[in-house]
Amino acid sequence: MSRASNSPMGVTALAAGVFVLGLGGCTSSSSSPPEPVYPEKDRAAEAARLLSGPDWYRHAVFYEVYVRSLQDSGGDGIGDLRGLAVRLDDLKALGVDALWLMPIMPSPLADSGYDVSDYRAIHPDYGTMADLDALLAAAHARGMRVMLDLVLNHTSVEHAWFQESRQDRTNPRADWYVWSDTPSSPDIPCAQVPTFGTTAWTWDAVRGQYYFHRFFPSQPDLNYWNPEVAAATLDVVRFWLDRGVDGFRCDVIGLLYESQAGCSMIPETSAYIRELRGVLDGYRDRTMVAEPTFFGSTAPYFGGGRDMFHMAFDFDFAFGWTTYFEGSAAQPVADHFAAVQQGLPAGAQNAIQLGNHDLPRAYERTNGIASRWRRAAIVQATMPGTPFLYYGEELALRPGTQVVVDGRDHARTPMPWSADPGLGFTTGQPWIAFGADAARTSLAVERADPDGEYAFYKGLLALRRGREAFGTGTLRLLPTDDPSILLYVRESPDETYVVAVGMDERAAHVGIAPGANLPGDPRRLLGNATLAREGTSARVTVPPAGTGVFRVR
Ligand code: GLC
Repeated sequence: MSRASNSPMGVTALAAGVFVLGLGGCTSSSSSPPEPVYPEKDRAAEAARLLSGPDWYRHAVFYEVYVRSLQDSGGDGIGDLRGLAVRLDDLKALGVDALWLMPIMPSPLADSGYDVSDYRAIHPDYGTMADLDALLAAAHARGMRVMLDLVLNHTSVEHAWFQESRQDRTNPRADWYVWSDTPSSPDIPCAQVPTFGTTAWTWDAVRGQYYFHRFFPSQPDLNYWNPEVAAATLDVVRFWLDRGVDGFRCDVIGLLYESQAGCSMIPETSAYIRELRGVLDGYRDRTMVAEPTFFGSTAPYFGGGRDMFHMAFDFDFAFGWTTYFEGSAAQPVADHFAAVQQGLPAGAQNAIQLGNHDLPRAYERTNGIASRWRRAAIVQATMPGTPFLYYGEELALRPGTQVVVDGRDHARTPMPWSADPGLGFTTGQPWIAFGADAARTSLAVERADPDGEYAFYKGLLALRRGREAFGTGTLRLLPTDDPSILLYVRESPDETYVVAVGMDERAAHVGIAPGANLPGDPRRLLGNATLAREGTSARVTVPPAGTGVFRVR
């Protein structure tokens, strides 16, 4: 990795800024005019205020966990809930407010748990219901929240519902799945295009019919046209909410119903989501985030802004950022967030990721060019949207090569925590080999490096923390006369920030933003760019791949 001490983004300054921020910000070089001093708030108290109440998720930092790979407590080489509980303090120290646990329910693991065989229990690999209760209590005691992955479109073939349904055409659950005498259905226009494999229909010899599956053959789709299925899955939701979980990441939720009109987010699916939201709203401060089916606007998942999802993943950015940061144009990023802003109803907020369990590691996607994911992470943390980190991103984990389930395993390798045998992850043999260079990217090594990834992420998350402007503030894009500079303003009722990102990795740039009308002179909180007011314009100077976050009120 090209992690040099002459960091392209002044990350040393950023890391230092974590400590300096509380004292009133960084100082500028002796040739620059003195920076203004703005009234500083008690950011911890602000964070506590912003993170309580129903809008908490708009200010929070989420962290996606593959429990199997985070921390083993039993020595069997498999991460588990008890292990995760032990790591809560480490995650809190990083700046994490909420966890999303990938599926932890019983499953034959044909799709890493996205093939659930029992909706009301814990996979024995991961522990017991008592372990989950203990994890919830430990997280809540630290002011952290825990969301579960809810996989409602399909079950595993091993689920008791499917085992009953397949017996014959007249049993009480005969109609809970989608059966057909032919490998097709006029009511499912998408049925010839499975997400995995070559056919969406598999012959079941027991029942003597084909069943429909959008994913692997071992993941039969539930038939939501049967009201009993809709009722049963909403009961599953109540079960976990009663247990104290703080919400859900809803897997491929747009695919629940199919009709001749389409297969994603048809009106019946939207109606179900409204019911689901109604169930959550019966509890306090619970939240759900949608996994959209397709690229494009996430608006269909938000309805009026308060009646469907709290958040939906911004896949255009999650999949597109590497392309943006390969070029030297600011326009694609600006256009994207302008479109998001225009497209979403008031109160709606996307969830922003750089990586997740379905994508290659950021390290791999950028060929190890740290300045790319670091600049993308600054955008992720300061543009409107809730940042979701994927475990290990804060260490720039390298991909693995071993495959146990499928190729996505390359980005699902165990967390290296320390130099101990098993790298602090396990005292046994890990269920899958660590990624490349794991020992060199362990938390212990990264934590000791002020220029490393961990210091970078920790500083960035600390900058966002307790600053309302980055959670619910308005966005104003500031076009400059230099096409390589991304410049924007985030503003809350009493504070204003400006963010500058240089898209050109090779050359420095100076841009003028006419009509910027900044309310005050800039005080730099992060990075190596400089900003100055010139009448009603702003002048921004950005080193190659440089960045800056400034307070101007
Ligand atoms: C979602 C999950 C993915 C899984 C699929 C089927 O896209 O993110 O990992 O394979 O749904 O459940």
